[in-house]
Amino acid sequence: MTGGIASHWLIYPRHASERCTFLEVSDCISKRLGQPSELPMSLMRRLRRKLFPPHGVVEGYENEELVETILRKTIAFQAEENWPLVANVGSVLDFGGGAGIHYKIARQTSPDTRWAVVETPAMVRRASKLATNRLRFFSEIHDAADWLGSIDLMHSNGAIQYVDDAIGTVKALCAARPATMVWYRVPISNGSAKKETQKSFLSHNGPGKMAVESDKVVKYTRCWIPQASFVDAHQGYALIERGPDPRERGTQHFYFAQIE
Ligand SMILES: C[S@@+](CC[C@H](N)C(=O)[O-])C[C@H]1O[C@@H](n2cnc3c(N)ncnc32)[C@H](O)[C@@H]1O
Repeated sequence: MTGGIASHWLIYPRHASERCTFLEVSDCISKRLGQPSELPMSLMRRLRRKLFPPHGVVEGYENEELVETILRKTIAFQAEENWPLVANVGSVLDFGGGAGIHYKIARQTSPDTRWAVVETPAMVRRASKLATNRLRFFSEIHDAADWLGSIDLMHSNGAIQYVDDAIGTVKALCAARPATMVWYRVPISNGSAKKETQKSFLSHNGPGKMAVESDKVVKYTRCWIPQASFVDAHQGYALIERGPDPRERGTQHFYFAQIE
């Protein structure tokens, strides 16, 4: 299967208040990070893109040009928003958290939170220059867990579908025993697991807008995960909430809490 061109660098803060829905989204954050619907290309640009698509192709999240683009955009991003999900949260393991964009936003609300991003080795190598005593990057879940000690929240937004073994990765995250687990934009299939090639423009990767020298098409392999396998992999956790994630077609959001 081949997906269309999409921008999929989004962010969905969950509201901490029980009166608010799990999917409550801060429009201003979404706008500033550049969701597809918030990046209206002019008709002329759209036409030009269609007639003259970029020639270069970048393959996969380990590509250095892609990592560099995400890093530069994350550094340039100025966070201002409030994010109630992380209020009073002491430690977060952010699986697939890029160059730490969610941490930049979280620290506005919760400046003392310790934040461990688990990422590809290529991203860890480059993003580690942004590390502080509260933000660290790891390529292994157990190293992130060791550094954090106890984990209040496992957060993951649009990343589990890009790993080779999604279910094994979910189990490894559960083994780190976070108190709560929040997943956004998980592509869920009703049948068996299936893989597809997803495409986007290089310039659409990373938060917000930034010109790139010459745009390219980025290709990634994305997996659609069977719902039952995804939920069942959360041994020792209760599923508190789930539903369609309106920010990316076909994806779901989930909220689990530790029970044992
Ligand atoms: C669509 S981006 C989402 C980034 C960020 N969570 C957000 O919402 O803006 C997917 C992220 O998953 C990361 N990723 C891909 N494969 C990974 C792996 N095996 N382990 C950890 N992260 C991975 C990519 O490097 C990328 O940063």
